[in-house]
Amino acid sequence: MTKIGFVLLVSILLFSGELCNCSYSYGQLKDNYYSTSCKDAESVMKKVIDAELDKDLAAAAGLIRLAYHDCFVEGCDGSILLEGSDTERSALINANLKGYEVIDAAKAAVEEICPGVVSCADIVQYAARDGTVKLNGSTWEVQGGRKDGRVSNAATAEANLPKPTDSATQLISAFVRRGLSTREMVVLSGSHTVGVGHCDKIVGRLYNFNSSYFTDPSIDSTYAESLKTQCPQNSDENTDTQVFMDTFTPGEFDAKYFNTLTERKGLFTSDQTLFEDARTKRSVTSLKSEGRFQKEFGQAMRAMGGVGVKSVGEIRKTCGAVNSNGLK
Ligand SMILES: *[C@@H]1O[C@H](CO)[C@@H](O)[C@H](O)[C@H]1NC(C)=O
Ligand SMILES: *[C@@H]1O[C@H](CO)[C@@H](O)[C@H](O)[C@H]1NC(C)=O
Repeated sequence: MTKIGFVLLVSILLFSGELCNCSYSYGQLKDNYYSTSCKDAESVMKKVIDAELDKDLAAAAGLIRLAYHDCFVEGCDGSILLEGSDTERSALINANLKGYEVIDAAKAAVEEICPGVVSCADIVQYAARDGTVKLNGSTWEVQGGRKDGRVSNAATAEANLPKPTDSATQLISAFVRRGLSTREMVVLSGSHTVGVGHCDKIVGRLYNFNSSYFTDPSIDSTYAESLKTQCPQNSDENTDTQVFMDTFTPGEFDAKYFNTLTERKGLFTSDQTLFEDARTKRSVTSLKSEGRFQKEFGQAMRAMGGVGVKSVGEIRKTCGAVNSNGLK
C-alpha cells in the first residue's frame, strides 16, 4: 500500500470509529476461541458449572447477573471477581451477587487441563450462558478472547451500574453509552425472568410514593397488596427479605417476565418503566413471544459480552486476585 493510501485508510478507520461510536469494539473476540489452545475448555467448564448448579440452582440467576455487573464496569474483564476491601465486588450495589464459587470451580477445572490459558473474564461469559441453559433458557455461542483487568474499584461500580429506581431514559442512556441498543436493553432486562430482588429496593414504590399517590399507580393493585404483605412498611428486615422478580414463573428462564410488565406486575421501577415508556413499550409486547425472546437474548448477551473488552491484560491464575507479577 502506498504511504498516502495507508494514511487515508487510517483516517477513515479513525473517523468511522467516531461516527459509529464503536469505542467498545469487540473485533478481537471469536467463536470457539479455545478450540486450538484448550479444546476441551468449554465442555469441561459446562460440566463443572452444571454440577455446581445442581448443588445450588439459585446461583444460576446469579451467573447471568455477574456477567452484566462485570461488563458495565471497566468492561467485560473479570473486574467484578477481584477480592479486596475497595473492589467492585465489595460495593454495596453488588452485595447480593452470587455465583463466585461456580466461577472459581470452573477456573480450577480449566487450570487443571490448560494452565494459564482461559481468562476469568471469558469464564464469566461462558458461565452466564451455561446458567441460562440450566434454567431451560436458550443457548448461544459465546465468544472468547477477553483479557483479565487489573483495576476494580467500589465507587466506580456504584457510579456505573443502573439502579432499580432508574427510569427508561436513564436505562437507555446507560446502554447506549456502551454501544448497546434500546431494544437490546429491553431484551437483557428479560433476565429478570429469574432471580430475586430485595424489599428495601421497592418500599419506595409501595409507601409514600409521592404527594399525589401513596402507592406507585403503575403497580397493579392486587400485586401491590401482595408486595406490601411481603415487605411491611418500616421493617428492619427489608434489606434481607427476597421477592421474586418474575411473579409468574420465577424459576424458569422464559418470556413471562414481559407478561408481568404488561399486567403491571413488574417488581422494580426499572422493570415497569419499560412498559410505561413509549420508546420501549412495543418491544415489551413483542418480546412476550417465547421464541423471539429466547433468540434475541442470546444475541444481546453476545453484544453485551463485547463491551469494553481488553486486548491487553493478563490471564489470572485465580479469579479473585490479579497476578502478582503484573501483565502477562
Ligand atoms: C427444565 O426442563 C426439565 C425437563 O422438562 C424439567 O425437569 C426441569 O424441572 C426444568 N428446569 C427448570 C429450572 O424449570
Ligand atoms: C406522582 O406520580 C405520578 C405517577 O408517576 C405522576 O404522574 C405525578 O406527577 C406525581 N406527582 C407529584 C406531585 O410528583
